[in-house]
Parts: sequence; structure tokens; C-alpha cells
Amino acid sequence: MLNLLKHPLLTHKLTILRRKETVTRDFRETLGEIATLMAYEITRDLPLKDITVETPIGDCRTKELAMDIVLVPVLRAGLGMVDGISNLIPNARIGHIGMYRDHTTLKPITYYSKFPDNLGDAIVMVLDPMLATGGSSSDAINVLKEYGARTIKLVCIVGAPQGVERIMKDHPDVQIYLAGLDDRLNENGYIVPGLGDAGDRLFGTK
Ligand code: PRP
Ligand code: URA
Repeated sequence: MLNLLKHPLLTHKLTILRRKETVTRDFRETLGEIATLMAYEITRDLPLKDITVETPIGDCRTKELAMDIVLVPVLRAGLGMVDGISNLIPNARIGHIGMYRDHTTLKPITYYSKFPDNLGDAIVMVLDPMLATGGSSSDAINVLKEYGARTIKLVCIVGAPQGVERIMKDHPDVQIYLAGLDDRLNENGYIVPGLGDAGDRLFGTK
């Protein structure tokens, strides 16, 4: 299912990312802030469990998060979302999956993966700012499912309708979160209007 997040601060900060004048330093900072704002919305439904803690005054029956959270950034651009989310969820464990799109076929190539144990008991958040054809996210989710992940949230920032449809078809069990849903892809597989190449803008490689 698609969840399009519409908080005014998110929309405002996404505009900063979209501007071509935004330099690497500001792009990186704003991407992190967007990730934090999205995390707040995405974690609304996290399960809690009952516990008792002792306050300086006495016992308190209260609650804490019931499940482990695992963040899995898709390299490279997903790395820009990790700090913004782990600031809110400091106990989150972090896996990595390395993928790039072949520039002619637009098919994703996986070149690295390393995940924490017991993915099946965790809520796994796949992080990638861009959902274009959906190939990279869909393959990343396939790999995570092979490693045992069962509850997966796909956290992107900008998506194209084609990518959203691809994930809903390949992974109907996965919740998709976006801050912007754009018009289409161009002939090179870039999101229009989008924000350009997220990895290059984040790391200053072009
Ligand atoms: C970008 C982006 C996604 C992918 C989206 O990565 O960060 O991972 O493209 O496109 P898709 O939905 O069509 O698969 P890219 O391949 O440019 O790699 P990079 O982050 O290392 O630059
Ligand atoms: N990857 C990006 O970084 N940007 C796009 O628009 C599409 C894929």
C-alpha cells in the first residue's frame, strides 16, 4: 500500500532537495531532516509491550517498543537517510545492501549485502530516496525476504507511478512511504521532475 506523507515541513524540505541550486552540504542536511520527519510518521503503528519500571517514586506500569527495528539503506543514496532515522530510534540495527542501476538496461546489479541476524523478528525499513522503475527496491526486498525478513516498510522520498506499481505488484505485503509522488520517468529512467541523481547530489560526485 502507498502512504503519501503530506506534512508541510516535509513538502517544504523536499522543495529544497529538488532545487538544482541546492549544494551538496545543504542537500545532505535536508535529506537527513526529511528522513527524521518521515520516521516519525512511519513509526506510528509500531507495536508496544507492557513493562514495569521503577521511577524515583515507585513502580510504573508502562510500555516500550515490542519489536527490533532494522534499517537497511540501499547504497549509495540510502545512506543519507540512516542518521536521520537512527537519531529517533537509537537501538535500531543497521544492514546494508549495495546496488546500482546499469545505465543502459536500468536493471539493478547487487554488489554487496550484510544484514543483522534474526530479520524475521524485526521490522525492517528499506531506505532509498528514489523509487524510479522500482527495480532496485523490489530486488532489495527480494534479498531481504530470502534472509528471512517478514515485516518490511519501504521508505523512499520521491517516487514515480511506475515504481509504486512495481512494488505493489511484486510485494503487496510491503508498506510504501513517499514524501512526493511525481509524474513519470524520462527516457533515462530518471524521475520527472524528481531531484536528479540522488547519490551524486548527496556525495558530490558530479
Ligand atoms: C538510484 C537510487 C535507487 C535507484 C532507483 O541509485 O538511489 O537505488 O537508482 O532506481 P530504480 O527504481 O529504477 O531501480 P543508483 O543506481 O543511481 O546508484 P547510486 O545510489 O550508487 O548512485
Ligand atoms: N535514481 C536517481 O538518483 N534519480 C532518479 O530520478 C532515478 C533514479
